[in-house]
Amino acid sequence: MKMVRYVVVCAAILWAVACAPKSEVDRKVDELLGQMTLQEKIGQMNQLSGGAWVAEQARNGMVGSILNCVDPAEINAVQKAAVEESRLGIPVLVSRDVIHGFRTIFPIPLGLAATFDPDIVEQGARISAIEATASGVRWTFSPMLDVARDPRWGRVAEGSGEDPYLDVQMGLAMVRGYQGDDLSDPTAMAACIKHFVGYGAAEGGRDYNSTMISERSLRNTYFPAFKATADAGAATLMTSFNEIDGIPSTGNRWLLKDILRDEWGWDGMVVTDWNSAGEMIAHGFSRDLKHSAEQAVNAGVDMDMMSYGFIQYMEELVKEGKVSETEIDRAVRNILKLKFELGLFENPYVDETLSAQVDYAPEHLAAAKQAAIESAILLQNKGGVLPLDKVRTILVTGPLADAPYEQMGTWAFDGQKEHTVTPLEALRKEYDVIWEPGLKYSRDKDKSSFPKVRAAASRADAALVFVGEEAILSGEAHSLSDICLQGAQSELIAEVAKAGKPVVVVVMAGRPLTIGRDLANCDAMLYSFHPGTMGGPAIADLIKGKAVPSGKSPMTFLHDAGQAPFYYNHNNTGRPCNGTETLLEDIPIAAGQTSLGCTSYYLDTGYGPLFPFGYGLSYTEFEYGKPMIEDADLTEDDVIMASVELRNTGKYEATEVVQLYVRDLVGSVVRPVKELKGFQRVQLAPGESRTVTFALPVSELAFWNIDMEYVVEPGDFTLWIAGDSDSGEPVAFSVK
Ligand code: BGC
Repeated sequence: MKMVRYVVVCAAILWAVACAPKSEVDRKVDELLGQMTLQEKIGQMNQLSGGAWVAEQARNGMVGSILNCVDPAEINAVQKAAVEESRLGIPVLVSRDVIHGFRTIFPIPLGLAATFDPDIVEQGARISAIEATASGVRWTFSPMLDVARDPRWGRVAEGSGEDPYLDVQMGLAMVRGYQGDDLSDPTAMAACIKHFVGYGAAEGGRDYNSTMISERSLRNTYFPAFKATADAGAATLMTSFNEIDGIPSTGNRWLLKDILRDEWGWDGMVVTDWNSAGEMIAHGFSRDLKHSAEQAVNAGVDMDMMSYGFIQYMEELVKEGKVSETEIDRAVRNILKLKFELGLFENPYVDETLSAQVDYAPEHLAAAKQAAIESAILLQNKGGVLPLDKVRTILVTGPLADAPYEQMGTWAFDGQKEHTVTPLEALRKEYDVIWEPGLKYSRDKDKSSFPKVRAAASRADAALVFVGEEAILSGEAHSLSDICLQGAQSELIAEVAKAGKPVVVVVMAGRPLTIGRDLANCDAMLYSFHPGTMGGPAIADLIKGKAVPSGKSPMTFLHDAGQAPFYYNHNNTGRPCNGTETLLEDIPIAAGQTSLGCTSYYLDTGYGPLFPFGYGLSYTEFEYGKPMIEDADLTEDDVIMASVELRNTGKYEATEVVQLYVRDLVGSVVRPVKELKGFQRVQLAPGESRTVTFALPVSELAFWNIDMEYVVEPGDFTLWIAGDSDSGEPVAFSVK
């Protein structure tokens, strides 16, 4: 009976779709498609890297999109060849990796996630779009939505960290910012949700590596941000380099058709990653380039980025009957639809004088500074040494203090370092600065100037040591097996500490590094990831106390890389560590086999992280009351009303990121020990208190269960409202 009803409903939907009046865009696409030769269609499916040299291809209708050209004059030249000199005058789509800013560089995406502030992230994406479109770029390969739980993977810098919920919120904010309300607005840039999917689960954190992710984990952890942004209208999607359980994403029909199109009903355009079709040969999935093109298109890819396989072999494949013209039409339809939606047919050219007017506009720089302020995480502040509001003379040292290029971080192709303001420059406006670089770059091992640095520290009231990673140490293909500070940076901190003055360490890096030993040698540590163009003024304001840190960690900080992957929202083992772990140095000689208690932890690093997900201090103190739930007996249609009393008991007006976590105690499959389900940034004056309330629909507790159904399972739950994923008082509720 159920089956019959299902068939009837499906038939009704199909009939309704078939009879629905076509949109204006669909009508235009059909009309154009009807005039195109097979070769012209295949040309649209081809994306090439470059500028002027591509004009010839455009003239011949052999290219649908270009990437990596940001010169307005060159873009216009290619566009002219396409629009005025090709047979059908179809404009090319100009794309670029605008990942965390175009000219004005914002903090790296991991830093943006640390703000827990979707509004500033949306504003950053809007500014990126305004600047990039002024140079003629209408399509960005962002946001990267790969949940990443292994800081050895260099690309953790490009995403929102380890949590699916935060990933959804940040992804939505970026898509809103890039695309605005109307893609045809000349300042709108099509977003590209990437990399579909599971790329962040690369084994051992080694880039491009294999992954083994179950369907349930895909659905519960890796799909949510893609599904949410697809539903919100993200215009395009990029396949990923990795394979999952032996199937490279670019050739994975289940992912690209069954899930994306049939289950989610998404109607955007799919592009491969750079030569990811061609790389299916190295995977051992395709025999040769021709085979890879066949597999990619039949799996559901619309556009080929840089394998050249489509342009070389697709005509042959169609003639041989290996790829149907229906597949080709599907792909070309998606590409043309986007071009029409972007208004490229009406407005193909960019005003070549525009970028000079909008790049680095004062309001862009102000937003970038605010984002950098909000993204900094205060990890330690012994004795309230920060802010340094009463200090006059400071030593500034370390390889990241005056490194305008490095502080922009990875994927900052178009940011110009001449526009970067470094901490050294900004601090000079606030203090009498003694400047001693100490090390030239983050990997530098030359300690010859250390005595000079130490002597300078003795003359100062306080010392600021800027350490971290050069931009090249994180991002694509930049994995590390050891994620402590490189070169002699830890020794530099230790050397400065010997002077006996207050030591403040500022870390600018692409990942959460293992900085445990460095914490022991400093009073305060501010972790700012790579903060971008305005990192200097942002950090100077935080140091001086003109701004108060509010960032929270979007990834767990580890004691040691050997703990990776480590994430707060893990499942429990059958022998969870009970907090009484015996460490190496405490083990008696000739200890009995089971004498250590047999729980799940490392003998050397113990169980817990260095800092948990969601962690970050303030200059003030926040006190949380016990969470209250209005009605703790709920049904599936109810909304959980949970609140907490938050009080600022310190001396500074400040913002706290209040976090809501839930645990589903028993499930048909094992459920995570905690899951973030909400957050709010709450600003309080000293002494002020506020009731912070979350309205969480019970439906948001749904997950993919034992029957692979997305349901809320009735039962008992625990809820916390706290300042990080490791604190707070638990309260119970149940769902019938
Ligand atoms: C990266 C993508 C990027 C593309 C285009 C690839 O190597 O994996 O994230 O968008 O290059 O530059």
